[in-house]
Amino acid sequence: MIGSELDAFRVTREPYYQPVGDEVAVFEAAYAARLPVMLKGPTGCGKTRFVEHMAWRLGRPLVTIACHEDMSAADLAGRFLLEPGGTVWQDGPLTRAVRHGGICYLDEIVEARQDTTVVIHPLTDARRVLPLDRRNELVAAHPDFQLVISYNPGYQSAVKDLKESTKQRFLAIDFGYPAASVEAEIVAREAEIDHDLALRLVDVAARSRNLRGHGLAEGASTRMLIHAGRLAGGGVPLAAAIRSAIVLPITDDPDLREALQSAVSACLQ
Ligand SMILES: Nc1ncnc2c1ncn2[C@@H]1O[C@H](COP(=O)(O)OP(=O)(O)OP(=O)(O)O)[C@@H](O)[C@H]1O
Ligand SMILES: [Mg+2]
Repeated sequence: MIGSELDAFRVTREPYYQPVGDEVAVFEAAYAARLPVMLKGPTGCGKTRFVEHMAWRLGRPLVTIACHEDMSAADLAGRFLLEPGGTVWQDGPLTRAVRHGGICYLDEIVEARQDTTVVIHPLTDARRVLPLDRRNELVAAHPDFQLVISYNPGYQSAVKDLKESTKQRFLAIDFGYPAASVEAEIVAREAEIDHDLALRLVDVAARSRNLRGHGLAEGASTRMLIHAGRLAGGGVPLAAAIRSAIVLPITDDPDLREALQSAVSACLQ
């Protein structure tokens, strides 16, 4: 039985996820062995959708935490709150998932400071415990608890990387852009447009991805293609939809915008 504590975190409807490789089987095996998993890949390529889908598939509640620089260990683990009757302890989101058997997803883990991320260490090795120092408690993880993190290797600088000792605790699943026909299927379905139009958008994406490393930090993501598809499906002319959803958001550099725009125009001929 899942504690009612996590009822709000249950994934009740199947999130649409189109498998790209063997990631579903790998994740299922990882979950069966209760091994922590790291999802690696560029922005907008399906990591969050995948973990939502897997939580639904495995019937586990999903507690997602967006990591950021100012996040403290207390934001994850919990803190004492002052109440009229005295101080009461309140579990943080990680502790709730640990106690009640949820999947805890730490999104963009490298954004958190390294001294914060070490709180997950005892959870991600054979001990499977979470020490709550302030409370003098050692929480043993619920048998169904699993930890998942996401990580975008593209943006990492030496200062903002995971500690070796953190990295080496996780299995990793690599997310890239899917094959054109698969990506078009995803875009068609999510933007509710026809397959041919989706394929044209995927073609535009391929060209933007070729500019990666030539000034563009990253090419157009699947997410961007869906945005463009939604605009086009809503009646915006295709060239204008691509401009608003892809060309303008992806770079502020006028030369790059022009390069991208001409690549797009070539596609739309
Ligand atoms: N394989 C897929 N199956 C279904 N939808 C997908 C898939 N890949 C991408 N998408 C679509 O792309 C959108 C963006 O994906 P998602 O939010 O999961 O990206 P992400 O990898 O978590 O990005 P970020 O690193 O920026 O958080 C999703 O909302 C979904 O519509
Ligand atoms: Mg995400």
